[in-house]
Amino acid sequence: MVTTPREQLLKQLDRVDHLPSLPVVIAPLLSYLQQPLDSLQVNEVARLIEQDESLAAQCLQLANSPLFGRWQAVESVRGAVVSLGMRRMREITTACSLINLTPKNCPIDPTVFWEHSLGVALACRHFAREIGYDDPDKAYLGGLLHDFGVVMCFWVAPKEFALAYAQASSSHVPLAEAETAVLGIAHPEVGRVLAEKWHMPSDLTQVIAWHHDPERATEHQALVALVSLADLLCRMSGIGYGYTEDREVDITHETAFRVLLAACPDLQKLDWERFTFEMEAYLEEVRRLVSLVYRRK
Ligand SMILES: [Fe+2]
Ligand SMILES: [Fe+2]
Repeated sequence: MVTTPREQLLKQLDRVDHLPSLPVVIAPLLSYLQQPLDSLQVNEVARLIEQDESLAAQCLQLANSPLFGRWQAVESVRGAVVSLGMRRMREITTACSLINLTPKNCPIDPTVFWEHSLGVALACRHFAREIGYDDPDKAYLGGLLHDFGVVMCFWVAPKEFALAYAQASSSHVPLAEAETAVLGIAHPEVGRVLAEKWHMPSDLTQVIAWHHDPERATEHQALVALVSLADLLCRMSGIGYGYTEDREVDITHETAFRVLLAACPDLQKLDWERFTFEMEAYLEEVRRLVSLVYRRK
């Protein structure tokens, strides 16, 4: 019986039964940092960080990095938390935890992938605030996890995925298009299968499944459309997967724009020039953060 690459991959997905685990320390720290910034205690954050030697070293190194314009040496984790600020601590621990989700012998350089995920997460949160979307933190999480299917491809079909990636980057087409051509299935579907199997929250599952096709989301359409636009913005401004896509995009003509506009009328008033200018500054910080975190590995 002939099985297609798609059928083989679906069979493999059926056998995967858990996520590679996050270090025990990072999970409580990440969940603590999800609380409102003004309710966070510096001592508690420092205590959680100190339990993971490599994370503590990373924070000290970052706090002393010229990137943050330090004029005084930071010698303790507590000092690093104060100096870097809670907001930045959240990005750093997120970056560290995402890196732990990548298999050791990943077929493609995962740096660009994490840069993209963090970039989309930040773009989502900023975008959400600008247009009055009611849950900017949920938007951040949606952005961070939207390409969950790609991470799963790293694990279940690394060779085939590397082939699809090579095709996408050499012909400058969207990744999902090359995946469909090579694997017969693209990362949103791979992500959806596992998100459903592991009972991930329905809003995140919808984002993972439909961020390239927001009209097909059966619920949480505004969130899916918001992530979809942020993803597109990042890919168009060089925070994609390490290659450029050959196409012209007019955001206001995207389906996602129409879907989001229905839920957030303030989208119409958004000053795109200012917004993209601010995004560039954010994304520059993401690039530096990812490269700093990676250099230690
Ligand atoms: Fe995607
Ligand atoms: Fe993406």
